[in-house]
Amino acid sequence: MTTPAIAANRLRKSYGDKAVLDGVDLTVAEGTVFSLLGPNGAGKTTTVKILSTLISPGPDSGEIRVAGHDLATDPQAVRAAIGVTGQFSAVDGLITGEENMLLMADLHHLPRREGRRVAADLLERFDLVAAAKKPASTYSGGMKRRLDIAMTLVGDPRIIFLDEPTTGLDPRSRHNMWQIIRGLVADGVTVFLTTQYLEEADQLADRIAVLNDGGIAAEGTAEELKRLIPGGHVRLRFTDPAAYRGAAAALGAAVRDEEALALNVPSDGGQRDLHSILDRLHAASVEADELTVHTPDLDDVFFALTGGGVPQQPQQSEQPTEAVR
Ligand SMILES: Nc1ncnc2c1ncn2[C@@H]1O[C@H](COP(=O)(O)OP(=O)(O)OP(=O)(O)O)[C@@H](O)[C@H]1O
Ligand SMILES: [Mg+2]
Repeated sequence: MTTPAIAANRLRKSYGDKAVLDGVDLTVAEGTVFSLLGPNGAGKTTTVKILSTLISPGPDSGEIRVAGHDLATDPQAVRAAIGVTGQFSAVDGLITGEENMLLMADLHHLPRREGRRVAADLLERFDLVAAAKKPASTYSGGMKRRLDIAMTLVGDPRIIFLDEPTTGLDPRSRHNMWQIIRGLVADGVTVFLTTQYLEEADQLADRIAVLNDGGIAAEGTAEELKRLIPGGHVRLRFTDPAAYRGAAAALGAAVRDEEALALNVPSDGGQRDLHSILDRLHAASVEADELTVHTPDLDDVFFALTGGGVPQQPQQSEQPTEAVR
């Protein structure tokens, strides 16, 4: 097994007597995208700042290793391996995009010629060549965000922290940013991403953790998280009322929608479940006119996990996710 890019044990941080992080464990495998979700104030930025050495962890935290280096004893080595794009832009508006890039190259002690090459290359990759000689204050929000990330990449970091990289971007710019992130991962970079957009985590993340009340409320792949909460069902629609009644009798647990001649059968959407539903219909000699599988989306998961605990039992009402909100 290779060393994880990030391994944090019992991460703690308090402000005054308020524990923001109360023993958070995080492991991020190299070359993957890990997404930290959570409501405003949950501690996402605090986590990013600790892991990127910008603030110190609480004294009672366990061992934290980033890029294989101990954060407590070797923060310089951690800093050399990472790049951080904060929630709020680090772009200096008074100078041009190119000058911002060259400033970063200087901070990384790149030789002049190498710095120019890297800056030009990144400006090209981030589609900022035409704007490179204009003051960054004249850039749109999306351009500033791209410049921000381009600046983060100057030192060729192996691990990058992106704190809400697409907040405020229009859908096209957001998709462009996703392509950029996918490109980084394809190059073997590890991405630690916080976001308010659950679809973003769904699209990009190999693993997702939901931060709530100082701890990780749940962690897994998007699919695993969706399976944690009720709401998945198979919907069967009929045109023949007799077939509808026959199916309703055959499928005891179904929720009936008399008006639409439809049945909602609680289901995890898995093959075995579908088989069993189809077998029962077949045994009752009824045929549905339409069958659709509905799985809860990450929004449902987010509401369930951050709004008062995980429900223990899947419920069999038509819109069970409402019940947990
Ligand atoms: N320097 C500070 N001093 C006191 N409290 C702080 C400080 N920084 C953060 N906090 C508090 O810690 C909590 C977590 O803040 P943090 O910025 O990490 O949340 P977040 O999950 O990033 O939220 P958002 O989604 O709004 O960005 C909040 O209650 C915040 O008020
Ligand atoms: Mg934040």
